[in-house]
Amino acid sequence: MNISPGDRAELLGRARAVLDANWRGSFTVPALRQYPYQWSWDSAFIAVGYSRFDQHRAEEELRALFAAQWSDGRVPHIVFHEADAAAPYFPGPAFWQIERSPHAPASHHSTGIVQPPVHATAVLHTYRHAPDQPRALAYVSELFPKLCAWHDFLYRERDPHGEGLVYICHPWESGQDNSPLWDPVLTRMALRPEQIPPYQRADTRAVDPAERPLDADYDCYIFLVDFFRQRNYDEGRIYREGCPFLVQDVLFNTLLCRAEQDMAELAELIGADPEPFKARAARTASAIDAKLWDESRRLYVDYDLAARMPVPVPALAGFTPLFAGIPDAARAERMLAYLGSPAFGLSTGEERSGFPASSYDRFAPDYSPRRYWRGPVWIQMNWLLMHGLQAYGYDEHASALRSAIIDLPRVGDFREYFNPETGAGYGAEVFSWTAALLIDVLYGEQTV
Ligand code: GLC
Repeated sequence: MNISPGDRAELLGRARAVLDANWRGSFTVPALRQYPYQWSWDSAFIAVGYSRFDQHRAEEELRALFAAQWSDGRVPHIVFHEADAAAPYFPGPAFWQIERSPHAPASHHSTGIVQPPVHATAVLHTYRHAPDQPRALAYVSELFPKLCAWHDFLYRERDPHGEGLVYICHPWESGQDNSPLWDPVLTRMALRPEQIPPYQRADTRAVDPAERPLDADYDCYIFLVDFFRQRNYDEGRIYREGCPFLVQDVLFNTLLCRAEQDMAELAELIGADPEPFKARAARTASAIDAKLWDESRRLYVDYDLAARMPVPVPALAGFTPLFAGIPDAARAERMLAYLGSPAFGLSTGEERSGFPASSYDRFAPDYSPRRYWRGPVWIQMNWLLMHGLQAYGYDEHASALRSAIIDLPRVGDFREYFNPETGAGYGAEVFSWTAALLIDVLYGEQTV
């Protein structure tokens, strides 16, 4: 990597300052102005960064998140620890009304939906890099049952046909909130005005509306939250009573598969039986490979369970099964022919221009280098694909992603997402996982 020791030290210092600014004493907000609470998968990536230099914070981060775990095992996508957060946020606790569910904790305010399950992966990472190994082992023992309950919730409540694939029921559950992946589903919902509860957006106060979702999409997001709260967050009712958004998502299932593989390792560390985790991971891997692979498009695509049809959208997430070792070598080679092309800015050699990897095919008619999830580069997606490509031996492509993780904050600052053509930073400022994953790669190891 072409970075001098001086530049490396300076960059590490700036990245740590971002995390310091967002640390609230027991957890880290993604960004103070735009996201002033604790987000589930952000905290997992943030813990990955802390694990390189601060074992205490790495452990506290997920401890704080799991303190708000529901009694049915769900880990909420946002925990509203501080009711008096600096910025106004919508939808906040008064809109979610999680007290309607008998499973919601009395001790915490939170949302009632989830985000991708990267937590076991982060706990394993924390253990591996911990200077104080006995304490790290105690931490693994403490988190292990909570992680089991979390994964059990997903397989129990979100896999109605016992396929080994779980569904998400809101775009926010995907972590890729405004991806074109959801367009076919949201369009099909065709909401009438009277179906949408009154509300006022807060997300466009701190960030340019041109970088945020459209109002019509936001109406669908709010309709769905209302649908869930009316059913008291009862997963069985939400499924049976016609939730219009039920998607078996590639990224979510891939991360669950990888998390189960990592649970097997955590189990071995504490003397528990790893076999059930290995079996569940293998089942999910086969289901992803059998049901979500799109041979003609050369990537994995989501499946819309409500409409019973695939969602053939060329999103970068369609390559993430590399992170869980799901495709065989021949399939991976086929994926690379597309992933390593100018479509995602990850071609090697002469053809390369700009910064990999765009979150959406650059030649798609509705590609945008600027709008949230419709083209910009996201650091955590690069990090997942970097590890995936590395494991398959595609060193040159992995290294291009690693360089982008390091270069983008230098060009575009510690922003939430970046223009794949120019490197300009967009979205929230002083953004935590951009800093955390940069720290992780600067510490150099290529294994998770
Ligand atoms: C945005 C992202 C989501 C993230 C959240 C907080 O909503 O799409 O993945 O968790 O911001 O950073």
